[in-house]
Amino acid sequence: MSTELKPNIDWVGHVDWSIRDFHSYETPRGATYNSYLIRDGKTAVIDAVKWEFFDDFARNIAGKVPLEKIDYLVCNHSELDHAGALPLALKAMPNATLLCNAKCAEMLGQYFDTTGWKIKTVADGEKFPLGKRTLQFMHTPMVHWPDSMFTYVPEDGLLFSMDAFGQHLATSARFDDQHDLPELLYEAQVYYANIVVPYNKQVRLTLQKAGLLDIRMIAPSHGLIWRSHIPDILAKYAAWSSGTLKKRALIVFDTMWHSTEIMAGEILRGVVDAAPDVDARSMYVRKTPATRIATDMLEASAVALGSATLNMQMMPQMAAVLNYVKGLKFAPKHAFAFGSCGWAAAGVEQMDCWIDDAGWSRVHEPIKAKYRPTAEVLARCFEAGRQLGLKARASEPEA
Ligand code: FEO
Repeated sequence: MSTELKPNIDWVGHVDWSIRDFHSYETPRGATYNSYLIRDGKTAVIDAVKWEFFDDFARNIAGKVPLEKIDYLVCNHSELDHAGALPLALKAMPNATLLCNAKCAEMLGQYFDTTGWKIKTVADGEKFPLGKRTLQFMHTPMVHWPDSMFTYVPEDGLLFSMDAFGQHLATSARFDDQHDLPELLYEAQVYYANIVVPYNKQVRLTLQKAGLLDIRMIAPSHGLIWRSHIPDILAKYAAWSSGTLKKRALIVFDTMWHSTEIMAGEILRGVVDAAPDVDARSMYVRKTPATRIATDMLEASAVALGSATLNMQMMPQMAAVLNYVKGLKFAPKHAFAFGSCGWAAAGVEQMDCWIDDAGWSRVHEPIKAKYRPTAEVLARCFEAGRQLGLKARASEPEA
């Protein structure tokens, strides 16, 4: 496995092949926690790893330079997938000073007893010479947390971008041109839709700021390093952060005795009938991870929400998905609610209220079926699907 980004700059992180749940984010392909070593007049490590992977991280560094020779440990972000190993690392690197911004120092002090840590806080734009190379710090608040920052090495055009441009993908490759590009961009989209999207505005500001830099390599804290496809990932981030939508309609539903599922099928038929060029997808929430639903929803322009009523509530997994989606603050969709019930259609009414709360626009009044959808109800589902499809078709901007 090649770990050299540039002469004397190496990847020293950890590949987590086994993780399948990253704080509820489904990771079927694992993850990496990237850390980088810069050997210059002074020696610096950029970010650490989860605490449980400290041994591997330390071994990777020690393969290049003794730990006591580390002068600086940069913490770009205090979340524990990167900062968790800091207490062990600073103990093992007795001569290291921690470089981070003031907000990060404050947050680290709330996670750990930082008494005795040598911490130097760095300002936005501050330059820090290592020898032939320079570290230049760029604060990027809320991409992903208030403390987040990038570290840039101008001599190499190398941007350590922390969570931004990352992907959860365990692989023995380290660079974008060593992996299938569509799959890599898809994993970057999964990451964006589940981690980054609530901070679209801050991403746009960060892209403007970063646009002033000469960027020849982007080394994120997760996944592969961008060196051959930088324009591709920057274009994706520009589109995702500006809420660009596609001709995509989702039917997201849960069902009890198949009635809501039958309605979902008829809505899908309506979408395809009215707008065969629309990408129509049906997602049964108890068989589709929320991570995947969110990924498909990121660029969807139209969404039908379906649920049976259980104990005067929408079905529990549908409620969980909508709770999750609400926090992600996607660009508004065209939407409507549907579902079956016995004696009260509380689930459908809750979803209809959710559409208002989310600020989405209602395409059709809620459609309710008592026990089994009648032919008349199914005809309404078909027609509502047609309207959903036509809205989805009209939503994509002209190329
Ligand atoms: Fe990879 Fe926000 O931590």
